[in-house]
Amino acid sequence: MDPLTLLLLLLITVIGRCVGQEILPEGPVDAVLGSDVVILTTLVNKPDYVFIIWNYNDGHEQIHVATVGSTGLKVNKPYEGRVSVNETNGYLSLRKLKPEDSGDYSITIVSMDGATKTAEIELRVLEPVSNVVIKSNIPEAIEHNSTVVLTCSARGSFLTFSWFHSDATLVADGKRITIKNEDTSSTLTIDAVLRSDLTAPISCTAANKLEKEKSAPFKLTVHYGPDKVTLSPVKVPQFIRAGSNFNLSCYAPSSPPATFTWFHNQKVMEVAGPVLSLKDIQAHGLGKTMDEYTCRATNAKTQRITASAGVSFAVMDAISGTKITGPTSILIAGNSSANLSCQATAGAVKTRTWLKDGKALSLSGRLVFSDDKSSLMINPLQKEDSGEYKCQLTNPVNSDEASFKMEVNFGPDPATVAGEDAVEVNDKVTLTCSALSAPPANFTWKFNGTVTDVKTAQYTIEKALYKNSGTYTCEAYNAITGKTTMSNHKLSVKEEGALDEGLSDGAIAGIVIAVLVALGAAIGLTMYCRQKVPVESPY
Ligand SMILES: *[C@@H]1O[C@H](CO)[C@@H](O)[C@H](O)[C@H]1NC(C)=O
Ligand SMILES: *[C@@H]1O[C@H](CO)[C@@H](O)[C@H](O)[C@H]1NC(C)=O
Ligand SMILES: *[C@@H]1O[C@H](CO)[C@@H](O)[C@H](O)[C@H]1NC(C)=O
Ligand SMILES: *[C@@H]1O[C@H](CO)[C@@H](O)[C@H](O)[C@H]1NC(C)=O
Ligand SMILES: *[C@@H]1O[C@H](CO)[C@@H](O)[C@H](O)[C@H]1NC(C)=O
Ligand SMILES: *[C@@H]1O[C@H](CO)[C@@H](O)[C@H](O)[C@H]1NC(C)=O
Ligand SMILES: *[C@@H]1O[C@H](CO)[C@@H](O)[C@H](O)[C@H]1NC(C)=O
Repeated sequence: MDPLTLLLLLLITVIGRCVGQEILPEGPVDAVLGSDVVILTTLVNKPDYVFIIWNYNDGHEQIHVATVGSTGLKVNKPYEGRVSVNETNGYLSLRKLKPEDSGDYSITIVSMDGATKTAEIELRVLEPVSNVVIKSNIPEAIEHNSTVVLTCSARGSFLTFSWFHSDATLVADGKRITIKNEDTSSTLTIDAVLRSDLTAPISCTAANKLEKEKSAPFKLTVHYGPDKVTLSPVKVPQFIRAGSNFNLSCYAPSSPPATFTWFHNQKVMEVAGPVLSLKDIQAHGLGKTMDEYTCRATNAKTQRITASAGVSFAVMDAISGTKITGPTSILIAGNSSANLSCQATAGAVKTRTWLKDGKALSLSGRLVFSDDKSSLMINPLQKEDSGEYKCQLTNPVNSDEASFKMEVNFGPDPATVAGEDAVEVNDKVTLTCSALSAPPANFTWKFNGTVTDVKTAQYTIEKALYKNSGTYTCEAYNAITGKTTMSNHKLSVKEEGALDEGLSDGAIAGIVIAVLVALGAAIGLTMYCRQKVPVESPY
């Protein structure tokens, strides 16, 4: 073929097409099976023609459909009753479409001058979309392991498929997720499926140009886990109080739920379930030493096993029955000693603290602890050792305490008498004797060496007489220590007015103040006058 012929052929093809498009619109025309269709033309009213001929071509052979001419419409036998052509514009109507109506329809217009125009359009008879169904290659999937192949199939023709996860369009990434479309099905392949791939139901739609059908939501379980295995409480104390209702709980995200096994120092325990209770531990005779406990979660479907981190602890008895044993006999300062011993009936004691009257005990040469601080030895006892002793016993799980009251007898200390030295006749006299002592001292008074019957700390004379002058002696006696101390006091009774001479304290104070004020004024005045005198310059 020479180049010129080739060019001519090309030209004819292009022109032919242009001509065709003038008469018929761009195809194809789609219509649903069983419905009616009108193939439109672009002809205006009453075009100038002799014949309009419609032919059908199924790709193998051409069949005459109908012709419109001056004598009217002529329909080919196979199309009788189903076909008409509008004489004004050449529209071809086809009723009750059958599958075999699909194919190319050509229109040929023969003009008065014998010229012909031809155009062609495709008609596609679409089978309605139905039976859109998703099927899976497996009934349930294992995360990371399974390749899930979902097939969406449908009845219908010229179908296009779309996939949805929940309501969002599912897009293939070309790697892990691929979609392959065929005429009446689409295949979604998910490699190494993740639980997130199928959290929501999957659906698919099959559509042609005219219709769209959606499948029922499809759900596929993806088994996963156990993921990270955690224990609670997160922070376990080193020591657990014996008898408490302590539990160690194990948890792991898993589908289906994991089963749990407990391990003591890597050895399996006969405890099933997610909770390891203190009872279980003690039932195994464990807890006496600091040991490690772990939990393993097993997923029967994924056949994966995951272990928790280990936690270490020991079980410890609480301290109880704390008691201080101390001296029961009478204690005398300077002569007695005391041992205070603090013991508990149960529990291991880690620390012991002693307090006296709520304050930390200060040790001295007299106060000594035993090596383990379980007893306190005081030798000799002194009066300041009286008080309330408390011992606190502590271990990591609790603390307990006991107290003991100790009384040290002492004294009496040297006695003193307070009261008047001199009074006027008829004045009242009160002498008070005091001497520190435990138990409190008994007092006796002597006058001029003779015992009186006053046995109280106070010696009172309502109205002094001359004969009351003399020496008063107070004796303080402690029956427990057997000690006595005494003190003398001289009293002189004078005639009325004998003590008035001299000024009272108040009068003396008044005079002193008056003198000071006068003196101050004098000094001030002197200073003032001096300033008035001009001072001559020595130069
Ligand atoms: C043919 O088409 C014309 C214009 O569209 C319309 O007015 C006329 O009714 C049609 N004739 C028939 C028989 O349908
Ligand atoms: C520990 O578990 C038991 C039952 O297993 C329960 O009765 C108890 O209350 C739990 N203790 C705590 C502290 O949760
Ligand atoms: C998952 O895949 C691994 C490696 O391919 C295999 O050894 C294992 O048995 C699989 N698990 C299950 C539950 O099929
Ligand atoms: C106190 O204890 C020590 C040592 O245990 C002992 O030697 C001493 O006799 C005890 N004293 C008393 C008063 O019990
Ligand atoms: C000491 O005084 C108390 C009351 O204050 C009394 O009961 C006791 O008998 C007295 N003792 C002596 C030895 O006088
Ligand atoms: C007591 O003794 C004083 C001097 O020691 C003496 O002056 C006084 O008269 C005596 N009083 C009596 C009542 O004995
Ligand atoms: C002190 O102790 C000694 C010897 O044990 C005894 O003889 C004396 O009577 C005691 N003193 C007191 C005040 O109890």
